[in-house]
Amino acid sequence: MTLQPHSLITLPDDLDPDRLPRHVAVIMDGNGRWARQRHLPRIMGHQRGVDTLKDLLRCCKDWGIEALTAYAFSTENWGRPLPEVDFLMTLFERVLRRELPEMVEEGVQIHFVGDLTCLPPSLQAEIERAMSATAHNQKIKFVVATNYGGRREIIQACRSLAAKVKAGVLDPADIDEVLFERHLYTGGLPDPDLLIRTSGEMRVSNFLLWQVAYAEIYVTNTLWPDFDRAAFHEALRNFQQRHRRFGRL
Ligand code: IPE
Ligand code: IPE
Ligand code: MG
Repeated sequence: MTLQPHSLITLPDDLDPDRLPRHVAVIMDGNGRWARQRHLPRIMGHQRGVDTLKDLLRCCKDWGIEALTAYAFSTENWGRPLPEVDFLMTLFERVLRRELPEMVEEGVQIHFVGDLTCLPPSLQAEIERAMSATAHNQKIKFVVATNYGGRREIIQACRSLAAKVKAGVLDPADIDEVLFERHLYTGGLPDPDLLIRTSGEMRVSNFLLWQVAYAEIYVTNTLWPDFDRAAFHEALRNFQQRHRRFGRL
């Protein structure tokens, strides 16, 4: 019997609960290489990657992190072979349908960001259902970037601001960082404090271009399907050793 919040019980002793990132963003990379190392088809890596994401979400929730954003499919990933793209779309839909009851129960508020209008209609319907079923949940915000591109997001924000100017309801002089941010897909979320990329690539691949302005970047050689709690713990330990200056001294 305990009245303590779960997060305080399970957060590892060497992490300071007052200095956790509020928002963690992950570029889940290396699924294909993980599969290739095992002489498996690439899709097996994606399949395993889902388990990793599920465990990371639970871990973030247990440890008291407010928001987790995961890069699931980029606007550039349409350039992959059709069977892989089709597999991914079907996987997203299947996993979403399967996991929704548990997410509802565990207090996960799920959001999808990206140009969702290009996704298969049945996936769009599943996304709609999941977002509305979890809209009032409070434990953690879970943001899935699907058909997401940072540049496309910025253009979309520009278009909606321009439309307001054209309609005469917005003065261009009133466009500032706060207003601009509200027109991004992620409007209202805190910026990520920590951006993790697995599998060793040192690039952002069009992810959250505006939002990562002051994120701490952590790149690990671990491939996404192997990124377990211990690996996340290490990322947080590393984050807590950083001195965030935000341009000051
Ligand atoms: C990341 O793993 C998953 C998606 C981009 C959907 P990759 O599929 O990019 O794996 P690698 O980089 O080829 O190993
Ligand atoms: C970034 O990974 C996109 C996702 C993780 C969804 P990629 O594997 O597509 O990125 P590049 O091609 O190495 O830049
Ligand atoms: Mg990759």
